[in-house]
Amino acid sequence: MSQRKRSKGLGCSQMTDGEEDFSPSQVERYSQDQVNQKVSELVQFLLVKDQKKMPIKKADMLKSVFGKYRSCKEYKDLYSEIVNKAGRTLQEVFGLQLVEIDTKCPTYILINNLPRAEGKYPCRDKEKEKMGLLLIILSFIFMKGNSVKDSALWEFLNLLRVYPGKQHRVFGDVRKLVTDEFVHQKYLEMISIPLTDPREFKFQWGPRAEKETSKKDVLNFVAKGLVALVTGGGSGLGRATVERLVQHGARVVLLDLPTSAGGQLAQELGEHCAFAPADVTSPKEVGAALAVAQKHFGRLDLAVNCAGIGIAVKTYNSKKDKVHDLEDFQRVINVNLVGTFNVIRLSAQLMSQNKPDADGHRGLLVNTASVAAFEGQVGQAAYSASKGGIVGMTLPIARDLAPLGIRVVTIAPGLFSTPLLAGLPEKVRNFLGQQVPFPSRLGDPAEYAHLVQALAENPMINGEVVRLDGALRMQP
Ligand SMILES: NC(=O)c1ccc[n+]([C@@H]2O[C@H](COP(=O)([O-])OP(=O)(O)OC[C@H]3O[C@@H](n4cnc5c(N)ncnc54)[C@H](O)[C@@H]3O)[C@@H](O)[C@H]2O)c1
Repeated sequence: MSQRKRSKGLGCSQMTDGEEDFSPSQVERYSQDQVNQKVSELVQFLLVKDQKKMPIKKADMLKSVFGKYRSCKEYKDLYSEIVNKAGRTLQEVFGLQLVEIDTKCPTYILINNLPRAEGKYPCRDKEKEKMGLLLIILSFIFMKGNSVKDSALWEFLNLLRVYPGKQHRVFGDVRKLVTDEFVHQKYLEMISIPLTDPREFKFQWGPRAEKETSKKDVLNFVAKGLVALVTGGGSGLGRATVERLVQHGARVVLLDLPTSAGGQLAQELGEHCAFAPADVTSPKEVGAALAVAQKHFGRLDLAVNCAGIGIAVKTYNSKKDKVHDLEDFQRVINVNLVGTFNVIRLSAQLMSQNKPDADGHRGLLVNTASVAAFEGQVGQAAYSASKGGIVGMTLPIARDLAPLGIRVVTIAPGLFSTPLLAGLPEKVRNFLGQQVPFPSRLGDPAEYAHLVQALAENPMINGEVVRLDGALRMQP
């Protein structure tokens, strides 16, 4: 064979001098048997590389086929034929797909193309712990919106007692493992954040993770994020609750009337929020909303009752000689009290199927009463009766559901700045705010949502009505 020295590099591959060189005419002389032999060698080479989960450079593939690094140009056709055949063998025999993950500096990985084992995360025993850690890290990044600062990642791993600097019993030097192995194997990408001093970095899923890992599987893996139903979620207190829960990693079914803004909000919040148009007074429609929770998110951990209406009508208006319409009274009771109970009873049934945590806890029901349950004002007979009913049933329902590990808590808000009050003139709103001892303002719906989260996080609060009113006591 002719010996021709070559010193030029091609593409990004580092081509070196060739010991065993081929001229194009010799390339053409390759017999089919020789090509098949090269295909087998390439398959073997790729399988060995895949053991280490290292991305494979095109230059290395060329080298494995032709001995030393060769020019892509000269061997283009033969090389393509060999690579295509090797790809087919990998696909047909091993269920692996050769995928190019970097076109600038041609680099390939092997992807397992076999159908996924439903709900299982198979991995080789030796690699188990390492892959487990990787899945946790990928899940964390995924739940944080696909990119996290490295400081946040280490903070999270610290909670799992995995420390970057120290030697870990299983993982050794964890910072080295994560930055060297997972980054080099293209599972993670580490990107420097501009204008930071000292320089900060963020992690995000790398191309291998994108291709090998289904985000749906990751979601199932980290499914400890709360699944919630929020009624009246299209407006005011309910809306703020939906937004906070989704921001904190929960998946939420937003129940509201079909005419509400719930559908639009759910669309804006993306795949972690599903809209269920329903009337809280309808057993069938609430049942359908709970079916959405089960179908889309697998279960229900929290139900928050925010749907409600209010009217201001005197029992008997002597000036107008007009008695309170009975239907209006019944309508308010029906939506606020009966609707709340309807959601509670059906939610409890679904929650009872949850696997209890170490404390025996299966779920939480949060209701919304009002300070009007205690200090109803003129014209609030129906509204106060409905909210008083919610306060009254809180303890007995908590007692009913205690054996199932389901808690029941009611929030009694004071005056909150929601569309319910938005219609009032600015002067009236300011006046109402000044009635609150401290802080002397209307409550922010986000403060209500914050309390819902606190209730969910504190398992000792049960059977209680919590006033959220800045010490407000309503005047007649
Ligand atoms: N805003 C306050 O100051 C305040 C104070 C005390 C109590 N509350 C109570 O808090 C709850 C929420 O009030 P808000 O201010 O957010 O009101 P809001 O009017 O902004 O929102 C109520 C939501 O409930 C929905 N809804 C009404 N009837 C429904 C039904 N039958 N089925 C399903 N959804 C229905 C509405 O479409 C709306 O989206 C109410 O129960 C209210 O009585 C509010």
